[in-house]
Amino acid sequence: MGIKERAFNFSAGPSMLPLKVLEDAASQMTSFNGLGESVMEMSHRSKEYKEIMDAAEANLRDLMKIPSNYKILFLQGGGTLQFSMVPLNLLRNSKKADYIITGSWAKKAYTEAKKFGDIIVAASSEDDNFTYIPKTKKEDFRADADYVHITYNNTISGSHFNSVPDVGELTLVADMSSCILSEEIDVSNFGLIYAGAQKNVAPAGMTMVIIREDLLGFADEKTPVYLDYKSHADTASMYNTPPCYTIYIAGEVFKYIKEIGGVKGMHQRDLDKANKLYDAIEGSSMFTCPVKKEDRSLMNVVFVTGDKELDSKFVAEAKEIGLINLKGHRSVGGLRASIYNAMPAEGVDALVEFMKKFESENK
Ligand SMILES: Cc1ncc(COP(=O)(O)O)c(C=O)c1O
Repeated sequence: MGIKERAFNFSAGPSMLPLKVLEDAASQMTSFNGLGESVMEMSHRSKEYKEIMDAAEANLRDLMKIPSNYKILFLQGGGTLQFSMVPLNLLRNSKKADYIITGSWAKKAYTEAKKFGDIIVAASSEDDNFTYIPKTKKEDFRADADYVHITYNNTISGSHFNSVPDVGELTLVADMSSCILSEEIDVSNFGLIYAGAQKNVAPAGMTMVIIREDLLGFADEKTPVYLDYKSHADTASMYNTPPCYTIYIAGEVFKYIKEIGGVKGMHQRDLDKANKLYDAIEGSSMFTCPVKKEDRSLMNVVFVTGDKELDSKFVAEAKEIGLINLKGHRSVGGLRASIYNAMPAEGVDALVEFMKKFESENK
């Protein structure tokens, strides 16, 4: 399929999905496996849907090597609802939690948590516009904190934790909305991981929560039932109607990732794509990346020309040749290429080629 029919979409999310998954889903749209009904129209309590859901969960567990003492929940409400659910459920003893602030989403998570307990900023990179990941040691966190929260990949500022912070015996919570399944993670380092689906996994509408079982059951009794993780853990994410179609597509994406070499294989592809793009930025005299080299994201490549008009011209001309959504986040401006799992290598090649051409024409 050529660039005109299907653009290379660099959107930060919702974003590209694997073409094969979309085409397969399209072929099953009106009648799934000959059943005469679409997955969209299927009862979530049906045997057929249960098979879809069970397979999605099993494949995610397999892909991420999620230990058996962790529950996988498929919820609604986006990453944003997790900003509230995490403190509502995990402020279980001292009611203290420590946050590392590495970007706008981390700040939003922190601001929301402050409504529920004694929440502090343990470290922040706001002093330099979130262009780096602050170094921490376990002594930087309060010894009685109920948890430490990090945003593993910073979608807007384009940074990423290149190692898991040492929090000692404390419970580590990570927002992996914009990097889940792009790298191998040792889940046992975390008490809870959450991720909205709409970047690496599926259309918007579903949030994955991976939670260690001993963290369940601490929500205050006034907590709305939907916001208590236990409601979902006890019912295999069927407390109420789950986001059925999004879970189905997520399941298809999980199968697809398994087919192409699992998370390890995916990571290698992501690394190759990101290296190519960062090398192009480094090699150019027009574009620069503000993020400290060792903290750069493989998923969200942020760069600028230093001239707002030139940035806009770049976005507009790129769009004309099918390289779409390259505008930086409205809060920071500049340019951003989100190159999630489903972005083909050819998309990055086309972008690099366009960057060179643009630079030579706009010297
Ligand atoms: C890292 C991160 N966390 C949370 C969110 C918020 O997600 P949602 O819009 O699904 O609530 C986003 C959205 O882009 C994000 O990038």
